[in-house]
Amino acid sequence: MTTFCLLQISLVLLCTTKISTLDCNILPLLHNKVIQGNLHLLNQMGQQFPEQCQSEKMHFKFPEQFLKLRQKENAKVEIQEILQQTFYIFTKNLTLAAWDGRSLERFQNRLNQQIEHLEACLIEKKQPYSRSEEIIRLKLKKYFQKIDNFLKHKQYSLCSWEIIRLEIRRCLQFIDKVIRRLRN
Ligand SMILES: *[C@@H]1O[C@H](CO)[C@@H](O)[C@H](O)[C@H]1NC(C)=O
Repeated sequence: MTTFCLLQISLVLLCTTKISTLDCNILPLLHNKVIQGNLHLLNQMGQQFPEQCQSEKMHFKFPEQFLKLRQKENAKVEIQEILQQTFYIFTKNLTLAAWDGRSLERFQNRLNQQIEHLEACLIEKKQPYSRSEEIIRLKLKKYFQKIDNFLKHKQYSLCSWEIIRLEIRRCLQFIDKVIRRLRN
């Protein structure tokens, strides 16, 4: 393990102490319009979906039905997984995406902050994942693997990125709905 990595771990541990004073039982994401902010930046970074990309569209089968019935505690794990994987996708080769760099950067930074916050809360909890959580995590991993493969296969073309931007928007809209339901 590198020194940098160790430093990161100690930082996370340090932060955990601070965050534990917050209420980690409720999703930090319940406050403000966090996901809506992500969606806003996602919209802002590009234009309308280009007509010439229609024919390349693909169905990635987001595992909606598995996420619908989740309880608040479990939802944290899944939301963290989704944000983490989304962040990972948006670190791929974006050269051809032709998006607004500022919005893209803000989107990446935001995701990063949200992931760190959720991670700190999950470390606090320290429970191993339950079987149903593992299943959902696997389903999510598969879903994002498909997205990853698609981009690779299309060589990170403009159309492939626009299709993924649309897909991630749908995915985040779904999380937003789940969070709203949990709040009520
Ligand atoms: C990213 O994609 C562009 C365009 O296809 C290519 O020229 C560049 O070498 C790629 N960058 C990396 C780091 O792979």
